[in-house]
Amino acid sequence: MEHVIEMLGIRKEFNGFVANDDITLQLQKGEIHALLGENGAGKSTLMNVLFGLYQPEQGEIRVHGKKVHITSPNRANDLGIGMVHQHFMLVDTFTVTENIILGMEPKSGGKIDIAKAEKEVKELSERYGLSVDPTAKIADISVGMQQRVEILKTLYRGAEIVIFDEPTAVLTPQEIRELIQIMRTLIKEGKSIILITHKLKEIMEVCDRVTVIRKGKGIGTVNVSETDPNHLASLMVGREVTFKTEKQEAHPKENVLEVRDLVVKDSRGIEAVRGLNLNVRAGEILGICGIDGNGQSELIEGITGLRKVEKGTVSINGKDITNFKPRKATETGLGHIPQDRHKHGLVLDFPIGENMVLQTYYHKPFSKNGVLNFKQIYKKATHLIEEFDVRTPDEYTPARALSGGNQQKAIIGREIDRDPDLLIAAQPTRGLDVGAIEFIHKRLIEQRDHGKAVLLISFELEEIINVSDRIAVIYEGEIVAIVDPKQTTEQELGLMMAGSKREAGEMNV
Ligand SMILES: Nc1ncnc2c1ncn2[C@@H]1O[C@H](COP(=O)(O)OP(=O)(O)OP(=O)(O)O)[C@@H](O)[C@H]1O
Ligand SMILES: [Mg+2]
Repeated sequence: MEHVIEMLGIRKEFNGFVANDDITLQLQKGEIHALLGENGAGKSTLMNVLFGLYQPEQGEIRVHGKKVHITSPNRANDLGIGMVHQHFMLVDTFTVTENIILGMEPKSGGKIDIAKAEKEVKELSERYGLSVDPTAKIADISVGMQQRVEILKTLYRGAEIVIFDEPTAVLTPQEIRELIQIMRTLIKEGKSIILITHKLKEIMEVCDRVTVIRKGKGIGTVNVSETDPNHLASLMVGREVTFKTEKQEAHPKENVLEVRDLVVKDSRGIEAVRGLNLNVRAGEILGICGIDGNGQSELIEGITGLRKVEKGTVSINGKDITNFKPRKATETGLGHIPQDRHKHGLVLDFPIGENMVLQTYYHKPFSKNGVLNFKQIYKKATHLIEEFDVRTPDEYTPARALSGGNQQKAIIGREIDRDPDLLIAAQPTRGLDVGAIEFIHKRLIEQRDHGKAVLLISFELEEIINVSDRIAVIYEGEIVAIVDPKQTTEQELGLMMAGSKREAGEMNV
């Protein structure tokens, strides 16, 4: 079998911290090869080595059997290697075409020939079934389309090998179906793919082989046809994972969150939340499910003070907090695990330790008479990092250098630890490995059992059904049904999310 890529005995260190220790990965021509490992195992690091962003301390890379030194992403492109990153690297103010051709612009008479470029982009996108609008601005298109632009960018540069770093973590279920189709087309056209994903079902569905790494070390490579999700999970975590969410009956008490006739507009000024009503009680987890774009983001932003409420009220424990500033809402007992961890969750250039007190640093014991007490801050941080298993070289490492999943675990730990009366968890387990998901679900249920109210928003219907005590279906800015998770299925929820009302089995709002 022909190997298009061989990474042999790769070692990569960051100031003495070993992120990759003697890892071997061999990619066969025409295969989809999964790279699996816990959060912080070293997957992105290994792929950044292959893409020329990092130089390994040891080991060898071969492309088509020939030893190479990949000194930069440009060199990687020349060798036919392209990468779609975990966090996109597009220029927001540029158009789709401008982003794709960046640095490779076709010229005629010394000027960029944009018409020619647009034509080329259109041809590429048709050939691979990657529908994009070549003239749209990046800032105006969906995450799914931005990802297609990233893929086109690699193809425009002639990539034969495409690395996908957690492409499905940011996508809606429909977009995931489309991406899987796209990957299959790429393979048909003779490309080879390395896919990083935490979703074992995806691996079972589309991949040929899996290479597993654990804590920076290679565990081995297995054929997908000879494995199953349980086996994969135990290989990566080093213990059995149950995939079950253990929980007792809920004993809900009084309303904590009350949302009345809420109206919130989206960024274009169109009403996205249209007279919505919702309660979350102490001691229950209410899950919200809906197809992306039905007002869920605007609802959360309206409740948390990140977006203006036009009409209606939001209250916590009977106190009206409508249009409170985020910090004031926080002080009233609200905790928020935001959907976009980079925009709202972390200050990326601050040490992870200081990020752990982002909401409380101005209180005692972290601050006294306006002076920060770093000893207390780091004492707290060290404790949280351990409790929530945030894997980082140390607490002084900038948040930016943590792996994606560990950034997420840090935010969750910080918010749960504040023990808010209402915890809003938006896509809380996005990008987490199966072991971490199990742990986070346990902690959310623990909050509930301590009498707190939890509002969970997720695209993962399995998560919604397993964790919630009641499920609210959001459609076109309104709650159209409240259902009992024990009496529904993913299929049924799917229908309701698409707008079909349901008659039987509804619960009281
Ligand atoms: N630039 C850097 N400086 C210091 N440490 C780093 C740097 N980049 C990565 N690390 C550390 O190396 C380890 C591996 O990180 P990496 O991003 O490769 O993990 P990952 O397997 O991709 O995890 P995830 O699934 O969460 O994305 C982590 O502990 C991370 O903190
Ligand atoms: Mg990663």
